[in-house]
Amino acid sequence: MIDRAATEWHEATCYLNGQWTALSDAKVSVLDRGFIFGDGVYEVIAVDTVDGVGAPVGAPIRAPFRAHQHFVRLQRSLDWVRIDNPLDVEQWLDLIAEVIDRHPWPRQLVYVQVTRGAAKRDHPFPAAVAPTVFVSTSPWPAIPAEQIERGVAAVTHADERWLHCDIKSTSLLGNVMMKQYAIDNGASETVMLRDGFLTEGSSTNISVIKNGVISTPPKTVQILPGITVDGLAQIAADHGVEVQVRPISAAELRAADEVWLSSSGREVLAIVSLDGVVVGAGANAGSPGPMYRHMHAWFQQAKQADARHWVTLRAERLTDKCAA
Ligand code: PDD
Repeated sequence: MIDRAATEWHEATCYLNGQWTALSDAKVSVLDRGFIFGDGVYEVIAVDTVDGVGAPVGAPIRAPFRAHQHFVRLQRSLDWVRIDNPLDVEQWLDLIAEVIDRHPWPRQLVYVQVTRGAAKRDHPFPAAVAPTVFVSTSPWPAIPAEQIERGVAAVTHADERWLHCDIKSTSLLGNVMMKQYAIDNGASETVMLRDGFLTEGSSTNISVIKNGVISTPPKTVQILPGITVDGLAQIAADHGVEVQVRPISAAELRAADEVWLSSSGREVLAIVSLDGVVVGAGANAGSPGPMYRHMHAWFQQAKQADARHWVTLRAERLTDKCAA
């Protein structure tokens, strides 16, 4: 039954291996390779209430941002680690629609995880083991207005992670250590550098803006191909702003007019200080710059367009299901 009264995150319902169950009751084996080895992959999908796209005409609708792209990336991660995808994209989207619907929150962060499953502890892939599939959601608090208006502080650190950061793996110890480094230093994010070049944040992608041009590091094994940063690139292109994808040196990072972080949970935020030194110069030094203000507004518009697309796709899917 759908518990519409649930308001606290721990009262949520989750999907585990084909069953809907209370989050507090959901259990996996201690032999699950996700637990033992971090042998799994995941996605985090932001869901917001968008006005003006629902039915009756203009009703607000809860829509996941770029849901399809998340499942294309999930497939890529699964392929890399050779776990069979238990569902096709349409089935995943049905599941996402259901988990959103089962919870009352206007803003949600949907979490999807697939691990290799439970088996006797041994490094090689076990034969004939079913993957563990877990989907949950939680309330997504509004991004603090203070962070949008004033930006956030970041610190830098050498990127000490492995060389497959392009796989969205649940093995996140390196990222967790880097996030804690930011917290320990009174900052909101750690921006990582490898061999003198920008990679990404501990849980965000980083963009650098100079003379009106947005630059982002190439999609190599060194960074996660972020859905949000891809969104920013498309939005920029739609508005005639140049985007360059190229290696960015530490010197360029520090000389940037603006630096942004982006992720599903934080959308786009301006980094206004790096290692205690203000980002930018002149009137905008140490505060979100003019490009950021445009991008933040455009991003909200893009969410509306994306929600419209989601509504259309869902309607088509329901029609197909009824006809089948
Ligand atoms: N993190 N880089 C890293 C290392 C990340 O963990 C994330 C997202 C991103 C941004 O990706 P996207 O725009 O697709 O969210 C970049 C998620 C939100 C997390 O682990 O919670």
